[in-house]
Amino acid sequence: MINKLVKIAKDTNLFLKKFIKRQKRTELVTAMEYGLFPGGKKIRSKILLDIGIIFNIEYKTLIAIGAAVECIHAYSLIHDDLPCMDNDKLRRGKPSTHIKFGESTAVLAGNSLLTMAFEILTSSNLKINEKTKTDLVQKLSQTSGHLGIAGGQYLDLSFEKKKISKNKIINMEIKKTGRLFSFCCAVPAIIEKKNKKEIKFFENIGANIGLLFQIADDLIDFKGSSKIAGKITGKDKKKGKATLISLLGYQNAIKYSDRIKLKIIKDLNKYKLNSTSLNETLDYILTRNK
Ligand code: IPE
Ligand code: IPE
Ligand code: MG
Ligand code: MG
Ligand code: MG
Repeated sequence: MINKLVKIAKDTNLFLKKFIKRQKRTELVTAMEYGLFPGGKKIRSKILLDIGIIFNIEYKTLIAIGAAVECIHAYSLIHDDLPCMDNDKLRRGKPSTHIKFGESTAVLAGNSLLTMAFEILTSSNLKINEKTKTDLVQKLSQTSGHLGIAGGQYLDLSFEKKKISKNKIINMEIKKTGRLFSFCCAVPAIIEKKNKKEIKFFENIGANIGLLFQIADDLIDFKGSSKIAGKITGKDKKKGKATLISLLGYQNAIKYSDRIKLKIIKDLNKYKLNSTSLNETLDYILTRNK
């Protein structure tokens, strides 16, 4: 599993480096690259590949779309670390982008990574038909905006130091983290022109994988090591973040995540997919320490 992730990370980074190299170099690019490389597990790309391979979609196409997803993810992390958000000084084992380059540069580098995702999706080098590209652009826009990452980040911040119900916490975590996983899971079905119901089925699986991923991230913050995680742990409690751990306690949050994992596997079985590779990824998500 780790070997597969390393290969995906390498291929994704190579794609992004080539993509950036073809553009005119500006000063902002240095900060964008800092937010993109190195580091980053590329777990979203792995999920995209796990599902894409089931549908026999070309590896190269999946890596390109995964690269677009990783640009959005990197942007969301740069902004998440800003003083007006989580105010974190360490990311992927090095100073956060705003610590290294200043806040305004970090905001602009983040914006540029967000839009770069759409440059990648609409590039003529991506060999999928125009209608599918439009569908992907529309889905990824909805994933990133107020219905997705941005909306979830808004809720995450507005919930600080408040008693929030379980359903509201889950809704917030699915928006800030789950939606991007939903996009990854839906991409192969969108490319294969599946109907709305099937696309929704995969989006739902993705939302649950994202929720699982965020709970694992919250568990790492609660008990994990800063050195291994590459970011300062123990901060959610200090900031009064509303998480399933703060609401249910550590052990119950683990139990809850195990239940979600079983649900995802049950859903996949319903579809009779060969999900060996995806199951491996789910185990990794739950047992990782970074
Ligand atoms: C961290 O994401 C932020 C969350 C959504 C929980 P990752 O743990 O995937 O971050 P990198 O890309 O591996 O650094
Ligand atoms: C971040 O969640 C989710 C995003 C969409 C960026 P966290 O705030 O828990 O992520 P970390 O712990 O800083 O990586
Ligand atoms: Mg945050
Ligand atoms: Mg954070
Ligand atoms: Mg966290």
